[in-house]
Amino acid sequence: MNIEISKMTLSDLDNIKNNLTSEFDDFWNYNILKEELNNNNSNYIIAKSNNEIIGFAGIKIVISEADIMNIVTKKIYRNQGIGSLLLENLILLSKKLNLTSLSLEVNTNNLTAIHLYKKFGFESLGFRKNYYQNQDAIIMTKLL
Ligand SMILES: CC(C)(COP(=O)(O)OP(=O)(O)OC[C@H]1O[C@@H](n2cnc3c(N)ncnc32)[C@H](O)[C@@H]1OP(=O)(O)O)[C@@H](O)C(=O)NCCC(=O)NCCS
Repeated sequence: MNIEISKMTLSDLDNIKNNLTSEFDDFWNYNILKEELNNNNSNYIIAKSNNEIIGFAGIKIVISEADIMNIVTKKIYRNQGIGSLLLENLILLSKKLNLTSLSLEVNTNNLTAIHLYKKFGFESLGFRKNYYQNQDAIIMTKLL
């Protein structure tokens, strides 16, 4: 698959607006993502194949560090390396921006995401109890 990575724009978000929750993920909705794209401290990227958006991911910068706010692959394209490509590009972008670390919270049940983060050198720093309603989160960090 020929995949291009580029900066995510509001028109990209509008492009996936109607199938965002059904075909990507229901963790965040259109309005929250729109706020993110309008926030100067946020940086979002998309993965595109044959003009179809097949994944997106973003960070929010706080001084010299950033949190990974979102990383999602369109359901039908999962387990084909797109999440890895997005994460690799978020790391490259963060290094280019001279950030010192990348952090995130991930549901303890989200074994795929945990696997992905560990593959790219993220380490577990601790847990947040009941972070997602009744489910715990692992806090993970990677020094850049
Ligand atoms: C997490 C997510 C982005 C991964 O995207 P993806 O395109 O499938 O990622 P990749 O194909 O690059 O990698 C998936 C890896 O997980 C592994 N994997 C798949 N299912 C797994 C499981 N149940 N347990 C552990 N590892 C698993 C795959 O083998 C692959 O590992 P590899 O690269 O070492 O071969 C995708 O599952 C997703 O969009 N999930 C919903 C949103 C989400 O939960 N985001 C994370 C929020 S913190």
